[in-house]
Amino acid sequence: MAKDLPGFARLDSGMPVPAVNLRPAIESTRGEWERRLEEMLSSGQFVLGNQVRSFESELAEAFSAREAVGVGNGTDAIQLCLREAGLTERRHEVITSALTASFSAAGVVAAGCSVRFADVLPDTLQMDPADAAGRVHAGTAALMPVHLYGQPCEIGRFAKLARASRLALVQDACQAHGARFQGRPFTEFSSRVAYSFYPTKNLGCLGDGGAVVTGSAAAARRLRELRDGGRRGGQVSYTRGINSRLDEMHACYLRAFLPKLAEWNEDRRRTAAFYDEALRDCPGLRPVKRTADSVCHLYVVRAERRDRLREFLAARGIGSGVHYPVPLHLHPAFRDCGLKRGDLPHAERASKEIISLPLWPYLPESAAHEVACRVHEFYRS
Ligand SMILES: Cc1ncc(COP(=O)(O)O)c(C=O)c1O
Repeated sequence: MAKDLPGFARLDSGMPVPAVNLRPAIESTRGEWERRLEEMLSSGQFVLGNQVRSFESELAEAFSAREAVGVGNGTDAIQLCLREAGLTERRHEVITSALTASFSAAGVVAAGCSVRFADVLPDTLQMDPADAAGRVHAGTAALMPVHLYGQPCEIGRFAKLARASRLALVQDACQAHGARFQGRPFTEFSSRVAYSFYPTKNLGCLGDGGAVVTGSAAAARRLRELRDGGRRGGQVSYTRGINSRLDEMHACYLRAFLPKLAEWNEDRRRTAAFYDEALRDCPGLRPVKRTADSVCHLYVVRAERRDRLREFLAARGIGSGVHYPVPLHLHPAFRDCGLKRGDLPHAERASKEIISLPLWPYLPESAAHEVACRVHEFYRS
């Protein structure tokens, strides 16, 4: 690992260890993004110009897809996928996971649809295909499984269920940049795959950004129209679109970061494997199952006395997170989803136990070692 990058000196001394540190990745690509920003400034084009067009082609190629369409953020990517599928009304119900960012559901609601939640599998915390199947009824219009924590969900089973029940299938891949399911690109399972480029993602920009990746040229054409107010390049709106375009500036950063994604994902995997080994026999911790397909967006374990552990780590300069502390069916915003406490027991239990430990590209092994030692110390005390 390149330890001479800014951000390392402090960490190598042992403390503190933030939950996320983007500086090393940003610094390691400085030359590339500065060159792109210079190109953008001299082009004088700041919206839907050459940087976005080039990034879209580069992203499609990297993810083995036909096309990619840059949009304003991941929530809009989800919204636009549903609009592109013709789902824009309350009677169109979309089933998604109860354990995900609230923005997954916000995208569904923004499209005009109703959101319904399914429980998760207790070992992986991915949306449970059997539980989702049991919730499909006449009003169900789409399934939206989430590839949570960088781990591909059981997308093959969701694709089968969508085909059998004639449902649209949107994939929330906002945490799974570069991941494939058993070696197959996500677009082989459905033509609508939504990504977020929020800064902390495996591929992030320096603000808000997102994309829809698709295997369908027709879908890409409709998405380009929908993201740009329903226009086709002129001043006439042909459909009721929204304004959600990836900025040229963000495309400059993304073009610099994309060639490093595979290396950064590998680095995340190495750190995750280190934690696996270092925490294997730690009493009080239980792993959340991961396969080799995971791009390790987050390192999540189940922890006894989770909140006390977080306080203990914070007092020693170690950051952590909880993804997520409240399952979505218990958020006041989604009160009308028809579920109450006790209805999705696996998601509810997990939300009380999970903790995300520090994980980011270039995290020094000494810092991961420090985290593991402090976790052991907590459970010994
Ligand atoms: C699983 C998931 N879905 C959707 C989103 C929404 O993405 P954004 O924040 O770019 O709107 C996020 C990110 O917050 C996410 O993690």
